Amino acid sequence: MTIAVVGGTGPEGSGLALRWARAGETVIIGSRDRERASQTAAKLNQAGHGEVGGSARAVQVSGDENKAACQSAEMIVLTIPFSGHAETLKDLKPALRPGQVLVDATVPLAASIGGRSTRTLGVWQGSAAQQAAELVPQGVSVVAAFENLSAELLHRDGPVDCDVIVCSDDKAAAQKVRALARKIPGVRALDGGKLENARIVEQITALLIGFNIRHKGHSGIRITGLPSESYDI
Ligand SMILES: NC(=O)c1ccc[n+]([C@@H]2O[C@H](COP(=O)([O-])OP(=O)(O)OC[C@H]3O[C@@H](n4cnc5c(N)ncnc54)[C@H](OP(=O)(O)O)[C@@H]3O)[C@@H](O)[C@H]2O)c1
Repeated sequence: MTIAVVGGTGPEGSGLALRWARAGETVIIGSRDRERASQTAAKLNQAGHGEVGGSARAVQVSGDENKAACQSAEMIVLTIPFSGHAETLKDLKPALRPGQVLVDATVPLAASIGGRSTRTLGVWQGSAAQQAAELVPQGVSVVAAFENLSAELLHRDGPVDCDVIVCSDDKAAAQKVRALARKIPGVRALDGGKLENARIVEQITALLIGFNIRHKGHSGIRITGLPSESYDI
């Protein structure tokens, strides 16, 4: 599968890209600037060299301008600040086609417009992911995921100790994204229900950032008490 990461030059997008490339996926780093995308791709190829599934194969990361990256991908992962969310999706619209899955990891943090990183902004549609669902062409499925997964942990070696809650109105698309999430060592992916639940998941990130500031760490979430198969579907 080819995955395009829009905003993949930032810490969150590049961290996800590195983990998926190490798992053997083909990843395209997207950026507003093609050269910046290529530079990030080159760094990730160097960082992930010889680590694909523990074998000596090279990881496959390339870089391109956001729209071109989306055109050649089956899955598009959005990792940009909320301040650019609506504008970016409007700009990408002509490059998106029915059957693609758009995964939104965006958190509407107040920090994206100069406020606090421990507060979120009110979004008319309910969440960034629901805003995305209004802006993509018909036939593109929106899935909310990875909002609580710290970039710092993604860039470290070894497994992360986090659950990823996946919300979507398209069950098949959500299943594909849970499978992709599980390719990151240490991640358990959970069915978080409908896309409207993304509102709750996005809010959790502001809480986690507060923990990180107070305790000087990199927190994540684990959901306990469910039957084991809930973590594995
Ligand atoms: N960092 C984390 O630990 C973390 C964890 C979970 C979720 N998230 C969420 O994931 C998203 C990305 O986080 P991040 O820390 O990687 O963000 P970031 O570094 O602020 O931005 C990521 C990339 O987005 C592009 N970008 C910046 N402003 C833009 C705009 N106005 N319009 C379009 N593209 C723009 C930039 O790429 P180019 O300049 O190359 O285009 C930048 O490298 C955010 O919504 C954040 O809340 C982050």
